[in-house]
Amino acid sequence: MKTLVTGGAGFIGSNYLHYVVEKYKDEEFVCLDKLTYAGNYNNIKDLEKNKNYKFVLGDICDRDFVYKLFDNEKFDVVINFAAESHVDNSIKNPELFLRTNIIGTEVLMDACLKYNVERFHQVSTDEVYGDLPLDRLDLLFSESTPIRTSSPYSTSKASADLLVMAYHRTYGLPVTISRCSNNYGPYQFPEKLIPVVISKALNDDKVPVYGKGENVRDWIHVHDHNVGVDLIVRKGKIGEVYNLGGHCEKTNIEMVKTILKHMNKSFELIEFVEDRKGHDLRYAIDSTKVEKELGWSRLYNFEDGIKETIDWYLNNQDWIDNIKSGDYRKAYNK
Ligand SMILES: NC(=O)c1ccc[n+]([C@@H]2O[C@H](COP(=O)([O-])OP(=O)(O)OC[C@H]3O[C@@H](n4cnc5c(N)ncnc54)[C@H](O)[C@@H]3O)[C@@H](O)[C@H]2O)c1
Repeated sequence: MKTLVTGGAGFIGSNYLHYVVEKYKDEEFVCLDKLTYAGNYNNIKDLEKNKNYKFVLGDICDRDFVYKLFDNEKFDVVINFAAESHVDNSIKNPELFLRTNIIGTEVLMDACLKYNVERFHQVSTDEVYGDLPLDRLDLLFSESTPIRTSSPYSTSKASADLLVMAYHRTYGLPVTISRCSNNYGPYQFPEKLIPVVISKALNDDKVPVYGKGENVRDWIHVHDHNVGVDLIVRKGKIGEVYNLGGHCEKTNIEMVKTILKHMNKSFELIEFVEDRKGHDLRYAIDSTKVEKELGWSRLYNFEDGIKETIDWYLNNQDWIDNIKSGDYRKAYNK
């Protein structure tokens, strides 16, 4: 079996490749990544040694290039992790998000139809469901929760999801979609909450927190997310959406304090800054469907997982320094 993994140099995709390339030695994996600012070749450099893996530099929106790649490689499965993923950037430049996240998905699905790919899996997000009120802890997102987006990022992801379902219904493309909550773990670009807090705190710089830090996120270890994606790709029912969540709600300020405490840093580093525009209040996922139908379960509990994650960043400070200096952009050419 040959699988195309797009966006494999990013946070979740690189963790996915480390998991599957090692686990399925008799299968082949091709990573396609444009290496945007968020793509870091250092995340996957060590995979070069594996015979069942290769890297291809390219853009999922480039139709001619994508068709040529599919023609040459004859993929059985395509898993689309590639995306513009930072909400703040989507507020500044929505168009790039519409191009990559919607058109890129369309091009990949057209290639899947043209070259008879057996499964297209779209990696999506719980953000397509909008947000939940802070005072209704009984409410969770299920797969039947209506799409109700807040940011250009979540709107682009929701649009892609709708297109995926339309390709299934109209053209019979064999698709699945996973919608996951906030991930934590190694290789996350230091623009997102956890690596930002760690890298600021390491230098005793102020740690910015939006608003009063009361927004709630449902945290899941990236490995648990990826085990879920792999399970859905192999055993999920075609045409279905599966939610994956951490069942672990934390306010942003709780998360920041957890990190500072583990690093023995003062809470005085915390600086509340102007809230993000349209900031979603609370996310919380109901993963009953994937648990019951496919037997998915989480391996990590938050307390151990977050400590392991913080320690990874502390033990890999050269990984962060390389990003800060911009050297990581040269890693592929080297
Ligand atoms: N990070 C989370 O907590 C989270 C939660 C749920 C879902 N997701 C989804 O998971 C996926 C991966 O997220 P992430 O956090 O790893 O993102 P990321 O920003 O770390 O990585 C995205 C990767 O996609 C690549 N890419 C961007 N545009 C491309 C293009 N046009 N062609 C080829 N490659 C391109 C980048 O170079 C990068 O390697 C995204 O689809 C995101 O929406 C993320």
